[in-house]
Amino acid sequence: MSQLPRKTAVITGITGQDGSYLAELLLEKGYEVHGLIRRSSSFNTERIDHIYEDPQTVGRRLKLHYVDLSDGVALVNLLREVQPDEVYNLAAQSHVRVSFEMPLYTGDVTGLGSLRLLEAIRASDVRTKVYQASSSEMFGATPPPQNEKTPFHPRSPYGCAKVFGYWATVNYREAYGMHAVNGILFNHESPRRGETFVTRKITRAVARIQAGLQDRLYLGNLEARRDWGYAPEYVEAMWRMLQTDTPDDYVVATGEAHTVREFCEVAFDAAGLDWSEYVRYDPSYDRPSEVDALIGDASKASEQLGWTPQAKFAELARIMVAADIEQLENQVAGVGVRVDR
Ligand code: NAP
Ligand code: GDD
Repeated sequence: MSQLPRKTAVITGITGQDGSYLAELLLEKGYEVHGLIRRSSSFNTERIDHIYEDPQTVGRRLKLHYVDLSDGVALVNLLREVQPDEVYNLAAQSHVRVSFEMPLYTGDVTGLGSLRLLEAIRASDVRTKVYQASSSEMFGATPPPQNEKTPFHPRSPYGCAKVFGYWATVNYREAYGMHAVNGILFNHESPRRGETFVTRKITRAVARIQAGLQDRLYLGNLEARRDWGYAPEYVEAMWRMLQTDTPDDYVVATGEAHTVREFCEVAFDAAGLDWSEYVRYDPSYDRPSEVDALIGDASKASEQLGWTPQAKFAELARIMVAADIEQLENQVAGVGVRVDR
């Protein structure tokens, strides 16, 4: 029986939450995976340490390259060398609150960075499919439910940058016939979520409060509503989007929304704690303009990609609390961090 040739994928942002899960998924599917990492003075590869292979490993299928999204020439050189079948653009300054403090940097990396990558694909003359990590943050002030036809009204420099990346992707599809797709993903979380996003900030605090290491949790707007899903399921949707014959854009969401306050209730309750005894308001976490409610309608992804969410709100919060409690116990015991984080 003849074997299909091995597929090759490039992932920008491989050291992030989604990049690490996507790398696992593609390796399981037999891909050769090239991850782009940025230079840091300290280790920034914790989320992929468990799948890392030394350069000396015979037949290794995960290769890392130093390429920053601000460096268009490095992108062209990398694409020429690797000749990927699929490119997943997940790299971004992805924190909405931070984007108000660093609007130009966010515009450069999160917005222009997407265009740099698309143009690098064109300049290197590589025939590849490309996935752009678009965001529900693009809908901003437009009331829910939001789907692929909902108008954008971004409320942050991050949201504006993502709208730019979205339209650049559509434009390269229309202008150059590129197989370029936008995944419009609503919030998705996991034990690997960055510690300054609200869900992880809460579940980490729950673990520390339960262990007696912290006695207060300061948060901003408790009334914001988000459609929170489970990250490992969302990277499966990204992959499915690149397996279609015709490029298109898809919303990925659970269709269920809850407030930050509700997330606090469920997360503290999972550890037998009453959230109202510990959570306090700090206006410094408020945003100059807020996105009040995001609720996604993912029926197109369900009908055309066969993708449906499994883990919902309460289960997600419990998974994250359990993982943070385990991580803390391991740290205290000197065992170190779980390898699958
Ligand atoms: P994340 O954990 O913040 O990861 C972002 C990744 O981008 C990290 O690997 C980071 O590297 C890398 N990066 C940042 N600046 C870079 C630069 N200048 N050059 C190269 N790489 C750079 O984000 P995530 O949650 O995995 O999200 C993945 C993508 O989906 C992002 O584009 C995000 O905006 C988008 N998105 C996320 C969600 C969500 O709910 N998670 C929803 C919709 C869209 P370091 O590790 O070195 O920092
Ligand atoms: N981060 C944070 N920290 N958010 C807080 C806090 C706090 O202390 N207190 C309240 N919030 C509220 C924010 O105001 C926001 O309404 C909500 O919690 C969620 O904030 P984040 O977890 O930071 O996520 P986000 O919705 O702003 O952005 C995330 O989802 C987008 C998709 O909709 C990020 O992952 C983006 O990269 C992504 O595109």
